[in-house]
Amino acid sequence: MGYVIAVDGASGTGKGTVTRYVAEKLNLITIDTGALYRCVTLEALNKNVKLDDVKELENIAKTIKIDLKVVNNKQLVILNGKDVSIEIRTPKVTNNVSIVSAVKEVRAEMVKLQRKLAEGKNIIMEGRDIGTTVFPNADVKIFLECSAEERARRRVEQNKENGIETSYEEVLNSIKNRDMIDSTRDVSPLRKAEDAIVVKTDDCKPNEGRQKVYEVVYKCLKDKKIII
Ligand code: DC
Repeated sequence: MGYVIAVDGASGTGKGTVTRYVAEKLNLITIDTGALYRCVTLEALNKNVKLDDVKELENIAKTIKIDLKVVNNKQLVILNGKDVSIEIRTPKVTNNVSIVSAVKEVRAEMVKLQRKLAEGKNIIMEGRDIGTTVFPNADVKIFLECSAEERARRRVEQNKENGIETSYEEVLNSIKNRDMIDSTRDVSPLRKAEDAIVVKTDDCKPNEGRQKVYEVVYKCLKDKKIII
């Protein structure tokens, strides 16, 4: 049996950065569950499936083949044999993924897949419902928090570094909209598990938040005698 670290939080709270850092330090397998929902969304869009066609979405979630691989230190997402790591991050997918991930039947399939991917390994899994639904008995649960305004500011900076000009207002609205859909949906809404440790990253300088989380995780694993 391996151990499980759950990292939950809203979009843009730094889950990816934190997860990769802790994984590297502790030699863990990382599972980005948002990427799985993004794959289902991409497949639905490519097949021109209407996003309110629950039967078809469920069918995609059941039959889709997703591989998460690390090649040359890069996390790759392979969908039905094709590398879609970049494509699943495009606005086309980002703007529709909240709708697809709110579908109960899709979530049921993805939760099964997430548990299967984790079987027997030491893993760190990031998402929205890992500590509440996927692994309610996770060994360590982290919940990241950061204001929508600060997250928007960081995203605009990031986009700028990637040569993409975006307006702060536009990004802030999109973040707030996703927060609203993710936290008010009926099935597994974004919510802190009662026993999760909250880490706020508003005032963290770059690289400070991930170190803070690593220290919390390390201490928890030591206290529970999971690592020596
Ligand atoms: O973390 P992300 O932005 O890649 O997630 C994409 C979408 O998937 C986001 O709208 C929330 C949803 N999601 C979810 O509902 N449950 C998860 N465990 C992970 C992501």
